[in-house]
Amino acid sequence: MEQAATEYGKLEFEDLNYATYLRLDRLLALQEPRSRPPHHDEMFFVVIHQAYELWFKEILHELDYLPHHLEEGSVSRALKVLKRVRAILDVLVRQIGLLQTLTPVEFAGFRHALGTGSGFQSLQFREVEFACGLREPFFLEFFSRWPEAEARLRARMEQPSVYDHFLRALAREGVPIPQRVLERDVTRPHELDEELVGALADLYRNPEDAYHQVLLAEALLDLDTAWADWRSRHVLMVNRTIGGRPGTGGSSGAAFLESRLDRRFFPDLWEVRNRIFAEGS
Ligand code: HEM
Repeated sequence: MEQAATEYGKLEFEDLNYATYLRLDRLLALQEPRSRPPHHDEMFFVVIHQAYELWFKEILHELDYLPHHLEEGSVSRALKVLKRVRAILDVLVRQIGLLQTLTPVEFAGFRHALGTGSGFQSLQFREVEFACGLREPFFLEFFSRWPEAEARLRARMEQPSVYDHFLRALAREGVPIPQRVLERDVTRPHELDEELVGALADLYRNPEDAYHQVLLAEALLDLDTAWADWRSRHVLMVNRTIGGRPGTGGSSGAAFLESRLDRRFFPDLWEVRNRIFAEGS
């Protein structure tokens, strides 16, 4: 791998073309359906999942860049990053629709080839959740059977989340974010904080000349909404494909997925709505 990377680094300008720049020889050699005899639809299934993983990689690349802009106080650039992540997520939600061209019989024809493989084991999916602040401790234990994956997830857990960075940026601009929230143990899942919800509700009600902060909060909620949309579309597709039968990952299937539909990245931002309407009614 290292040797190949070095060889790639040595490519002369005239050897650089579409295929060599994108490393298509390697990328296009990575689709290896396992069903025997080969089932026509397995290639489609592999490509969809690989495409998801590529986009998860890009989302993480963008989310890792976001704190830099928030620390610099450059809200417009932070908004730009969030806009791109949102645009990618819109594609990922729509991409679920591709699976609607796979009938239950076609899926049953190669499902055995997946073994115990399941999207539930997608490390990058969990990394996006951890990066945003949804840090369910269960997943560290779950990934402990794959030490490299566990280490990556743990590293994410030890970093402040996108949400922590957002709150720190607000605090730097004078929004009264409670100190205990700013100093919280970032490895712990974020807990709803009434005083923080109050401060955010005030910001929404009276942004004065800080409307950019409201836009930032709304851009984060766009991301949360798109992630929740993906979960809903996924469980609907699962129902359509395997009904209420158990998943390859060993869960009860759709029922299990439905029990996870309420997961949110930024619970306080949702709670702000309750606060505003409770006081306004
Ligand atoms: C025919 C297509 C698919 C079926 C039948 C299916 C089925 C399931 C089931 C039953 C689960 C629950 C865990 C288990 O027991 O395996 C699950 C979880 C999951 N799947 Fe899929 N899936 C499909 C396609 C996809 C695709 C294309 C992705 C894209 C990455 C994906 C990502 C996930 C993720 C991230 C979870 C965990 C969700 C959560 O934690 O809330 N799945 N899937």
